Amino acid sequence: MNDRLPVARVAIPYRPRCSVTLHQAGACRGFLLRGRTRAERGRIVSGVGTELTEIAEDIYRISTYVEPADLVFNQFLIVAEQPLLWHCGHRQLFPSVLETLARVLPPAELRWISFGHVEADELGAMNHWLGVAGRAEVVQGSTGVLVSVNDLADRPPRALRDEEVLDLGGKRVRWIDTPHVPHGWDAGLIYEETTRTLFAGDLFTMTGRVPARTEGDIVTPAIATEDRGGASAVTPASGETLRRLASVGATTMALMHGPAFSGDVLCALGALADDFDRRLRS
Ligand SMILES: [Fe+2]
Ligand SMILES: [Fe+2]
Repeated sequence: MNDRLPVARVAIPYRPRCSVTLHQAGACRGFLLRGRTRAERGRIVSGVGTELTEIAEDIYRISTYVEPADLVFNQFLIVAEQPLLWHCGHRQLFPSVLETLARVLPPAELRWISFGHVEADELGAMNHWLGVAGRAEVVQGSTGVLVSVNDLADRPPRALRDEEVLDLGGKRVRWIDTPHVPHGWDAGLIYEETTRTLFAGDLFTMTGRVPARTEGDIVTPAIATEDRGGASAVTPASGETLRRLASVGATTMALMHGPAFSGDVLCALGALADDFDRRLRS
């Protein structure tokens, strides 16, 4: 596996379906651009550096550190006969993410576009990806498609039931409903069976310029981030949802705002479940 692949510049047929201005930038604009002058905003958008790391066989982490948020925002590319992109990313980051993905495969070859729940970092650039990948379909959980994605996506999405498997040809992705974990009625995650990779979205969010991979402690930073931000909607079912995720047998967790974790996944999810239970009781 390569930490950094050689950069192969390609002609990218990128023609956004809409002209995105800073004022149209959606929910992410709040913490991407808060308190910035217009000139500074331009530098933030144009000055991003997006990194590429293969975290499991034919699974690539596309990661951008956004300084005003002090967070990384990650997309994941699963290379298979039918390539799948997990997390669309913000619209403002799209050119940088697109260029980085193109180091691995032509963006037009994307077949599936997916994400965990409706938020700007999860699906902001969804229609941009549909614009560059003419064969691509959005695929998401039944609740998300019914409530939001049917309307938001420029082409009809495909809905997956809980535990339904999407065979990508060489990779198999299982959809897991996780309502309100970390947040949102529509929330769900995917598990790639051949590499035993759980794409864990906002779970275990940690701040800062994190490494691409770790086997270290991801629970303590996750608890600290939750204490500061309160991003999770803890319900009586949350702990059980996390224990169910632990039971799938993942050996790697691909985090939206953190490194790829290849330590004790079972233990980490169990500890987070215990913390959610504690929050509910307190
Ligand atoms: Fe989120
Ligand atoms: Fe997120």
